[in-house]
Amino acid sequence: MNASVASMIDENSSVEQRVAALLREMTLDEKIGQMSQLNASENYVPQHLGDELRAGHVGSVLNAVEVGTVNELQRIAVEESRLGIPLLVGRDVIHGFQTIMPIPLGQAATWNPDVVRQGARVSAHEAATTGVNWTFAPMIDISRDARWGRIAESLGEDVYLTNKLAVAMVEGFQGDDLSANGSIASCAKHFAAYGAAESGRDYATTNVSENELRNVYLRPFKAAVEAGVTTLMTSFSDIDGVPASGNEFLLRDVLRDEWNFDGFVVSDWDSIRHLQVHGLTANEKGSALQAAVAGVDMEMASSTYRDNLAGLVESGQLDVRIVDDAVANILRTKFRLGLFENPYTALDQNNIVGNAHALQTAKKAALQSVVMLKNENGALPLVTEELSTVAVIGPLADAPHEQLGTWIFDGSAEQSVTPMHAIHSLVGHDIDVRYVRAMENSRGRANEAFDEAVAVAQDSDVAILFLGEESILSGEAHSRADINLPGDQAELVRRIRATGKPVIAVILAGRPLTLTNIVDEVDAILFAWHPGTMGGPAIADLLFGVVSPSGKLPATFPRMVGQIPIYYNQKNTGKPPTPETVVHIDDIDTHAPQTSLGMTAFHLDAGYTPLFPFGFGLSYAKFHYENLRVAEQETQLGETITINAELSNRGSVVGEEVAQLYVRDLVGNVTRPVRELKGFQRLRLEPGETVTVEFVLHTDELAFYGRNMQLMTEPGDFHVWIGGSSDTHLRTEFRIVDNH
Ligand code: BGC
Repeated sequence: MNASVASMIDENSSVEQRVAALLREMTLDEKIGQMSQLNASENYVPQHLGDELRAGHVGSVLNAVEVGTVNELQRIAVEESRLGIPLLVGRDVIHGFQTIMPIPLGQAATWNPDVVRQGARVSAHEAATTGVNWTFAPMIDISRDARWGRIAESLGEDVYLTNKLAVAMVEGFQGDDLSANGSIASCAKHFAAYGAAESGRDYATTNVSENELRNVYLRPFKAAVEAGVTTLMTSFSDIDGVPASGNEFLLRDVLRDEWNFDGFVVSDWDSIRHLQVHGLTANEKGSALQAAVAGVDMEMASSTYRDNLAGLVESGQLDVRIVDDAVANILRTKFRLGLFENPYTALDQNNIVGNAHALQTAKKAALQSVVMLKNENGALPLVTEELSTVAVIGPLADAPHEQLGTWIFDGSAEQSVTPMHAIHSLVGHDIDVRYVRAMENSRGRANEAFDEAVAVAQDSDVAILFLGEESILSGEAHSRADINLPGDQAELVRRIRATGKPVIAVILAGRPLTLTNIVDEVDAILFAWHPGTMGGPAIADLLFGVVSPSGKLPATFPRMVGQIPIYYNQKNTGKPPTPETVVHIDDIDTHAPQTSLGMTAFHLDAGYTPLFPFGFGLSYAKFHYENLRVAEQETQLGETITINAELSNRGSVVGEEVAQLYVRDLVGNVTRPVRELKGFQRLRLEPGETVTVEFVLHTDELAFYGRNMQLMTEPGDFHVWIGGSSDTHLRTEFRIVDNH
């Protein structure tokens, strides 16, 4: 037993009392230590790190994942430092630890909070076996730009869907009890509006008005804070001229004063040092001062706090109360995690990692994440009895690493089950499965292997093409300006198409792609994102109809990259387009007179509709919606509205459907979106079955930030839709009145 200061604090007093008692004992140096996070990626404790820990100069480490090393780091902090404060051990556990779930964007396509929660739970359990007690997830940046490489890590374009899934992820990571075995702290990132980077170029400037910020980008963070997320991470970007890591408005006015957040804020990697690079400060001292004043509690990686905060306090430039508040926020989190009682991790928990439950969870998530975008003439599902030979072609059919996606530091490609292997195991006894990779990777160029692929397709009953993007083409700093299938994949599609055989495209990618140039060249498309460890078995089951596809798009698929940003909940504008007003560039007469009469908001070469809308996804079942009703035509402010419709499965197979509720607030004190998602339900229907889908909407759920930046629901008229995508036409209306 050590006799550190921390160990002498009464365990039975409240967290706040323990925080205050510990803080009273701390030197300024030790306080700044708590505000510092150091990289520790070696599988041993380097001398300098050990020394810093002993001196009380470190509050957290990141990237240590070897349990013996992590325990040793904790031992030094707890037993050899004066205070004995245990460490937060952070890691990017983004969509799995060793067992990899679909990328977050793929998980969002499940529209299933339970599946997302279970995925995070499994990831937390696996990560916790190494001593990691804090993940830098969920990433909840609203993303309306498929060029941005980090859209892969996001939950898509929509606030409501992101809110629900963000909360599910936080619950999954943190569990019911943050101090329980297998629960880890989570981190909502990147605060804020990082996803609005200009032209989708990672780290680029964001220009977002306060109203848009509050109505769109901040809302998932508010939901995560309300769900008890323990930490937030600032974003790399500047927002309206002020980089997030020096942004007092975000970190104090909104986060602390309005939302009462009492966890702590960590910077992004080096992002405090970047304040100088942004040109906000002249030197690191200035950066440390601005970040601390703004409300960044812990500095990741760089050392501007360690090097400057003491001097700033001693010279009177920085009020020590700012330091005290930051340290209190960090200590509070450590107490809540139960780290003081239980800093060490039991060895030999290998039975948890990659076990049957983890694999089942990953498979279920992958199954529900795949979106069927096209299925002409019942090309899918494939019927084993009708086939003798199947051609499996393409760079992503048997690419164990590529199906895992971005941010898989601890995932192992050896565990991946590829589609090619899964198809073999599912139907290999009955069907001759022939495989041609055709391209070295997704960026490959046409080569002799194309001829071989064509020959094999020619001799087969059907060709399944595994196309898309390798893992490394999305993720941080991996933005693309062209989001077509890379390399000569479109050429491969055309060559296979020319055989006249049915062509099924299975696309694995980290973002929505523009598929305009191949959509008419294939009979069916399964969009599988990067589906993770169990992507192969999930895809095989879907191809052969063991399970019906049920994923729905969490982001709009543009026809052309120039349409970006294109998202379903856009504003109406004063000149909204209609099919009648759209003119195609080829149809304009030479010397046609310039006029704005009848002109509307569209592109001459792309129109105004996406290739596939938000919420869209097909099934082998045939879903039909009718009889949309609102129970109360008029509802009092503060009460609820009940909306329902009948959903039937007119097909011959069982399937799951995600029924979606959209509303439009017709008149607002600021302009309102043409539609907003306000509810969804995943339902399983047997053939011939009809169910009533019912949504109960409280008028508070219609609230938005108006001109005065206050959240409020305005009385007035609303349109409401229920259907299987954001493009549903089944509409009715209701009115909200305020008779108080
Ligand atoms: C990313 C963060 C991540 C951090 C630590 C940064 O580059 O932006 O999302 O958590 O690195 O790895």
